Amino acid sequence: MLASLAPQWSAGFGFAARAFAKTAASAARQGAIGSVRLIDSFHKETVDDIFAHALKKQTGVSLKYMLDFGQNPIERQLLLSAQFLHKELPVRLAHRVAELENLPYGLSAKKHILQVRDWYVESFRDLRSFPHVKDAADELKFTELLRGIYRRHANAVPVMAKGVSELREELRLQQRLTELPEIHQFLDGFYLSRIGIRILIGQHIALHEPSKPNHIGLICTKCSPVLVAQDAINDARSICMREYGDAPEVSVYGSPDFVFPYVPSHLHHMLFELVKNSLRAVQDRFADSDDAAPPIRLVVAEGGEDVTLKVSDEGGGIPRSGLANIWTYLYSTAKSPVDPRQVEDVDSGPVVLAGYGYGLPISRLYARYFGGDLQIISMEGYGTDAYLHLNRLGTSQEPLP
Ligand SMILES: Nc1ncnc2c1ncn2[C@@H]1O[C@H](COP(=O)(O)OP(=O)(O)OP(=O)(O)O)[C@@H](O)[C@H]1O
Ligand SMILES: [Mg+2]
Repeated sequence: MLASLAPQWSAGFGFAARAFAKTAASAARQGAIGSVRLIDSFHKETVDDIFAHALKKQTGVSLKYMLDFGQNPIERQLLLSAQFLHKELPVRLAHRVAELENLPYGLSAKKHILQVRDWYVESFRDLRSFPHVKDAADELKFTELLRGIYRRHANAVPVMAKGVSELREELRLQQRLTELPEIHQFLDGFYLSRIGIRILIGQHIALHEPSKPNHIGLICTKCSPVLVAQDAINDARSICMREYGDAPEVSVYGSPDFVFPYVPSHLHHMLFELVKNSLRAVQDRFADSDDAAPPIRLVVAEGGEDVTLKVSDEGGGIPRSGLANIWTYLYSTAKSPVDPRQVEDVDSGPVVLAGYGYGLPISRLYARYFGGDLQIISMEGYGTDAYLHLNRLGTSQEPLP
């Protein structure tokens, strides 16, 4: 099975060996937040091992590879999967640590970024110190380790967002440029990699759980986009109800019987974000109007190559000059719930209708992860169409930053 893993070279790795000549004298402060360079916080051997791994190539997998495990994976398949992860995850984690260590504008020294970096280093160390996975008993222990790693990184997105928003606020006060293209490029790569790592771990863990009908781990072989859409709509509308006391209708066009293999949680995430955006736009535009809010339309189209979902609203659209911004992190026209003054609180907080500015860029990464894409077309003064393309063949290789 592992023969089907086509190797993929990671693009443009630019962190060639830095000088790590400092001693490990300060290693006693392991993991201490506040120290900046890796070498100030971790043993030299760990740091050297991280950079050696950061120079190795990452190996991509495809949806089809994950489906090959079958509904009831046999012991040997689980063992192979564990051995693959034992080798692959340290490489992926090390690439991210090296990046987190070298961010521009002093972002690497921000407390929250260091917190995330330390989670990556801890997970790297845990994996590297785990002995070779040789039999079923080792495999079970290794899966326990994976569960811990999965939990450790649960809050990485809001914690990173806090670090970045702090920097943005600082630059804004100094009236320095706030577009930060390098930071956005880094975040795209970082979050894409995170999606990959979490699906690989999540898939391995899920294969240990009692098998659900039509599921291979996290992948549903008969995922109905209409049913997932209805769930996402209910969730988004209830948040809109809570915030506005009202929520526009959403009509779904498509047959609930149409199914294809996909990860329902990813699809739910993307549709939830798109529907939230449309609800907010329509609600804001029609709140004080005598006209009834026009329903949002969600269309499911079944193509041979792609399954495309379109979310259309009459919420007034987005000015053309603002279109480029919608894909950047932390751009939002909503009041920000990420308050840089409350940096102590690392919980993700309550789900809100809008305000982080992460909805669109992260959804596009989820789409791209399995070979799809997300496009937004807007008519200012009328409304917005979001096209979510999902590759139904599932043969495309994971994109690896
Ligand atoms: N359907 C839409 N109609 C009008 N404007 C939209 C629409 N979708 C997105 N936008 C604009 O794009 C911005 C970015 O959207 P995005 O979903 O990335 O972040 P957000 O909705 O502000 O916050 P969140 O991260 O909570 O989703 C929004 O703030 C809004 O200005
Ligand atoms: Mg949004």
